Amino acid sequence: MDDQPHDRPGCVLVAGAGGGIARAILAEVAHRWPDATLLTISRDSGPDLGGRHRHCSLELAQPDSVAAARAFLQEQDAAPAWVVQCCGVLHDDRHGPEKSLEQCTDDWLLESMRTNVLTHLHLAQAVGPLLQKRRPFLWASLSAKVGSIGDNGLGGWYSYRMSKAALNMLVRNLSIEWGRRVDECCVVAIHPGTTDTALSKPFQENIAPDKLYSPETSAGRIVDVLQGLGRDKSGSLLFWDGEVLPW
Ligand SMILES: NC(=O)c1ccc[n+]([C@@H]2O[C@H](COP(=O)([O-])OP(=O)(O)OC[C@H]3O[C@@H](n4cnc5c(N)ncnc54)[C@H](OP(=O)(O)O)[C@@H]3O)[C@@H](O)[C@H]2O)c1
Repeated sequence: MDDQPHDRPGCVLVAGAGGGIARAILAEVAHRWPDATLLTISRDSGPDLGGRHRHCSLELAQPDSVAAARAFLQEQDAAPAWVVQCCGVLHDDRHGPEKSLEQCTDDWLLESMRTNVLTHLHLAQAVGPLLQKRRPFLWASLSAKVGSIGDNGLGGWYSYRMSKAALNMLVRNLSIEWGRRVDECCVVAIHPGTTDTALSKPFQENIAPDKLYSPETSAGRIVDVLQGLGRDKSGSLLFWDGEVLPW
């Protein structure tokens, strides 16, 4: 196994930085590594994280975000050692997870693909050209266990499941392409566990209290897992405790 090449990131980029888990990950990273440079991308004006923080307001679902995100990264003194892409959607005011085939609509599937896949694809397209062979690099996409095809025994949630399964394939492909270009490269998808954020709020009723985690708890676990990763886990879908899940 590799000797934890990603355990002290000097620069961390968090995308979808306005989200519940993203904000907690940023706080956790700032706490563990006060000297690390924090870069954030969000649709809004972004959090205020002090002197070593730079923010870019961007809609990553749009194709022109690729050039804008790349320009933002090229302006920085430090290149990200970690990228944690947190963008995702499960519901909005008019749509929720489908219980049956009849409830599926083209619009919501396409919107789910835009937010759950294109935001990750576009950021990867922005970051890819900046990677260097001898600079260790870690990419983590927040995905979901329900995006695992092998683990799906319940059905339902068509648009979320399909879009997260597509995200998982993107992550697997990236791990192969970037693994050829970068010596110490690890690219994973990670399931944060059911976390008390706006995304899970309408669906928390049937969750046992001890299975609904605070954003701080989930962020701490995710950062623990990322810190310990090496090339051997690249191309995996991980549970929040680091266990490898079936695709
Ligand atoms: N909470 C859970 O129980 C749970 C469980 C499994 C997986 N996850 C995954 O964990 C990730 C973070 O979720 P969360 O719980 O922190 O949810 P959240 O608080 O609702 O945050 C969602 C994130 O997605 C971004 N986003 C939403 N719509 C977008 C759009 N149209 N274009 C670009 N960005 C968009 C937001 O970025 P902005 O900063 O731009 O607003 C925000 O960071 C998601 O990928 C989710 O699928 C969560």
